[in-house]
Amino acid sequence: MKGKILVTGGAGYIGSHTVVELQNAGYEVIIIDNLSNSTTDSIDGIERITGKRPVFIKLDCNDLEGLRNLFTEHSGIDGIIHFAASKAVGESVQKPLLYYRNNLNSLINLLDLMPQFKVRNIVFSSSCTVYGEPDNNPIDESAPVKPAESPYGNTKQINEEIIKDTITSGAPVKSIILRYFNPIGAHKSAEIGELPNGVPQNLVPYITQTAIGVREQLSVFGDDYNTPDGSCIRDFINVVDLAKAHVIAIDRMLGNKSEDKVEIFNLGTGNGVSVLQLIHVFEKVSGKKLNYKIVGRRTGDIEKIWANPKKANEVLGWKAVESIDETMLSAWNWQLKLREKGIM
Ligand code: UD1
Repeated sequence: MKGKILVTGGAGYIGSHTVVELQNAGYEVIIIDNLSNSTTDSIDGIERITGKRPVFIKLDCNDLEGLRNLFTEHSGIDGIIHFAASKAVGESVQKPLLYYRNNLNSLINLLDLMPQFKVRNIVFSSSCTVYGEPDNNPIDESAPVKPAESPYGNTKQINEEIIKDTITSGAPVKSIILRYFNPIGAHKSAEIGELPNGVPQNLVPYITQTAIGVREQLSVFGDDYNTPDGSCIRDFINVVDLAKAHVIAIDRMLGNKSEDKVEIFNLGTGNGVSVLQLIHVFEKVSGKKLNYKIVGRRTGDIEKIWANPKKANEVLGWKAVESIDETMLSAWNWQLKLREKGIM
């Protein structure tokens, strides 16, 4: 056993893929999740892939006493990977207090308890949303953080500040902040994948659900952007590639290899792909014609953003390796599996 890792939000999309990689690397994992946007089916999937069932406790990170009990019962936690958060951009505009309460209190509670229970290391899930609309692409970590477009985006920025301020104050904690670009796809086994509650807000689940007939038509939000085909450009990164970066981050902190008490890394492929290009990749790998139409722009969308992942490549020795074709195929296979199981 290499160490004991607490994964908050570990039943969710990125969390479950990360738990698989942690267990494959020899870590013991404890998952806490309030199951607000996930189910324990993902825990079953993790067990089928790795042959090991992680400890799972249904717990909300806003529950300070519940967390205290958890740290008391499960002593010797070496590190935390903090995924648990609300993440729907549109909903955050409607319900800002829910987002601020949930996303800020969760982190504050963890940082508060970590020194008391001698937990030294935390990996934080941040987002490229902190860059806003970039002045230049690809964008690296030295680019300025711009005013957030939504309460959701603001919680990511504030949480980064909370981590930095806490560590500057002398708290015995180290952190690696990972800024994700657009994670997509599913585990190749199709045992785990993305399954949002209700109508998907993100592009890829909307594509696969349309292709399988759960949604009638995909709306493409705008084809009048200043990009080659007029649709927005993103850096779509395979979720398993992304998950592997978390294991490297944990290895780095537990091995005392961090160069600073807070390190920030972009996690992206370095390639910009447009929404229409992604749809065409999907049609190619699935052999399905997608029913989509161009509609108006979505408020708050960024025109184009893709990562310069050089720092993660060189300092972490991590690189996104899966092709966009394989990644879209994995998303489609996951959707087919959900149909086979009668889930969707
Ligand atoms: C958003 C957030 C990001 C967050 C992520 C997690 C912003 C600017 N971005 O990413 O911080 O981490 O969600 O949920 O706050 N699209 C369509 N039709 C659809 C859905 C999406 O055309 O039905 C387009 C969007 O306009 C966008 C692209 O697909 O251009 C990607 O959208 P989405 O998957 O929602 O991710 P982001 O908005 O990039």
